[in-house]
Amino acid sequence: METAAPAQKKDTENTLLSLRQVNYQYPGTRDKDGVTALQSITLDVSEREFIGILGPSGCGKSTLLRIIAGFLHPTSGEVRMDGEVIKGPDWHRGVIFQSPTLYAWLNVKDNIAFGLKMRKIPVGERYTLTKKYIDLVGLTGFESNRPYELSGGMKQRVALARTLVNHPRILLMDEPFGALDAFTRQNMQSLVRKIWHQTENTVFLITHDVDEALRLATRIVVLSDRPGRILDEFHADFTNRISAGDPELDGCRSEYRKLKKDILKLIHPPNENYSLE
Ligand SMILES: Nc1ncnc2c1ncn2[C@@H]1O[C@H](COP(=O)(O)OP(=O)(O)O)[C@@H](O)[C@H]1O
Ligand SMILES: [Mg+2]
Repeated sequence: METAAPAQKKDTENTLLSLRQVNYQYPGTRDKDGVTALQSITLDVSEREFIGILGPSGCGKSTLLRIIAGFLHPTSGEVRMDGEVIKGPDWHRGVIFQSPTLYAWLNVKDNIAFGLKMRKIPVGERYTLTKKYIDLVGLTGFESNRPYELSGGMKQRVALARTLVNHPRILLMDEPFGALDAFTRQNMQSLVRKIWHQTENTVFLITHDVDEALRLATRIVVLSDRPGRILDEFHADFTNRISAGDPELDGCRSEYRKLKKDILKLIHPPNENYSLE
């Protein structure tokens, strides 16, 4: 199922994103207190990294992603991309949510080409780019289908192609496979791994599934319960080994289990999703 890819990705040390002492507080209302969602998040993301953000439900993961995307502004602290303070959403930061919001009245091809059209990319180039990304996500033959004719996994493929076609510098994904069945989820994980290798994009993936983080990311950042703080981070190479043809990780099962155990120890309270077996 995996496509052959270079065993190692060259890790440039160029910092793409930098977060400094980021705090976020949702404001209170007359009958509800404000919520401190994030506390003192300091994090650098290098170009071509695949970062996995892992943390319990409600700890502030989506808030963090919305801040990086530019949908929310930190209450205090600073977020920069390429040294520039992030002021709002931008094509360079492509966002994929758990439930893709496709345009119901447009077919697959037009959903994918929509952003290019908005950006006034000429028709010929639009056609070539759209075709390229339809192929990459495995939707060739479904160009004319409408969203209601697609499965959940296929919709998520459209969302990926629609984002990638704009050549973002970083892909921000918020639990993108959470709503999919186990088999589709695995296929999508393989696809994202392949895309990461082929496009040399930087990926920022939020998940609450430790195995997903370990099998995809090169660095895993673990957040605490709310307010989300960084507890620790771990480097992993399993994604490259899987790409190089060891999908069962036969060569490093004990290493995998040890890392998983170390990560699980950090996460409280224990939760059935984090079972070791
Ligand atoms: N718009 C909002 N207004 C008030 N509180 C919110 C809002 N969105 C999220 N929260 C709260 O902030 C905390 C972090 O939320 P979120 O970032 O969605 O967590 P996660 O993605 O890790 O599950 C949660 O306690 C949530 O209830
Ligand atoms: Mg969330």
